[in-house]
Amino acid sequence: MRSAQQIATVAVIGLGTIGTGWVAQFAAAGLTVRAFDPDAEQRAALEATVRDMLVRNGHPEAAEHLCLSLHDTLEAAVEGVDFAQENVPERQAIKADVLGRLDRALPGDVIIATSTSGLMLSDFQDALAAPKRLVVGHPFHPVQLMPLVEVVPGRRTAAETVTIAEAFYTRIGKVAVRLEKEAPGHLVNRLQAALWREAVACVEDGIASVAQVDAAVVNCLGPRWSVVGPHMAFHLGGGKGGLRHFIDQLGPGIQTRWEGFRTPDLTAMTDPLVRGVEDEAAGRDIDTLQQERDRKLAALLAHRTREG
Ligand SMILES: NC(=O)c1ccc[n+]([C@@H]2O[C@H](COP(=O)([O-])OP(=O)(O)OC[C@H]3O[C@@H](n4cnc5c(N)ncnc54)[C@H](O)[C@@H]3O)[C@@H](O)[C@H]2O)c1
Repeated sequence: MRSAQQIATVAVIGLGTIGTGWVAQFAAAGLTVRAFDPDAEQRAALEATVRDMLVRNGHPEAAEHLCLSLHDTLEAAVEGVDFAQENVPERQAIKADVLGRLDRALPGDVIIATSTSGLMLSDFQDALAAPKRLVVGHPFHPVQLMPLVEVVPGRRTAAETVTIAEAFYTRIGKVAVRLEKEAPGHLVNRLQAALWREAVACVEDGIASVAQVDAAVVNCLGPRWSVVGPHMAFHLGGGKGGLRHFIDQLGPGIQTRWEGFRTPDLTAMTDPLVRGVEDEAAGRDIDTLQQERDRKLAALLAHRTREG
């Protein structure tokens, strides 16, 4: 296997929301990127979008020295690369086809990472000639700003693949969290689904509006969890007695609440939730909201980096 330090050229396959973000992230780290998407419009838009992202995110020198090539086929894009990041639509058949093509086109010592949000890696591995180099490298939107990438092995992934992928993502500025085994939704999307289930239930039960739920998270859980995780937050919530004291005192209430949680009907809740976010957006379109989010996120993360 090539070491993390030897990776200089990366293939990015699929240039939608996530693939474009990966191109910006790899380019910001000074890597050469070879890209492919069957959609000619996506290919045509990529370079300008990536330059713009790099400038807006404080990497004007990377925009100036951008080493990016676009290719008409997947096979041409992966020629000579040291690492491949796959970002095609979250459909089992499309992923299986693309991962199979990558496996046939790339030497066995080149890692293939997939950005899949929820598919199980092991389901793809038996069809590959070199399954041990396939790993999940799951980023978060917007990729070039969100630090985390989840690195997840499938049943047939080599431990060395996980170690190298973790070291490579760390080298390019990501925070890599390695999971011990695969699970639907990996880790973060499971946590996110658990919180959103209760958020939707609170709206459905009339406890709070969509905007009120969002304000509660943005002004309490968001800031808290951006510096300590939920376990450490409760360890500190227990004062000098730490988490043990916290559980002694508040655990029974939390256990009762857990037992009372129910699963809302998301289909029935779609219209009220959409009306709720439209009220909250107050006329701002998606582009405006995205720009606001990215500006605030970049400022928050820059501050966090300065604080250490
Ligand atoms: N959107 C998110 O928030 C998010 C976050 C993390 C991970 N992901 C994962 O990233 C992957 C991509 O998601 P997205 O949101 O960028 O999707 P998207 O629809 O924005 O982009 C998918 C791209 O893949 C291209 N494509 C289709 N068939 C292809 C093929 N055979 N070969 C190469 N490219 C092909 C499409 O033209 C499109 O440009 C999915 O697996 C998704 O689960 C998404």
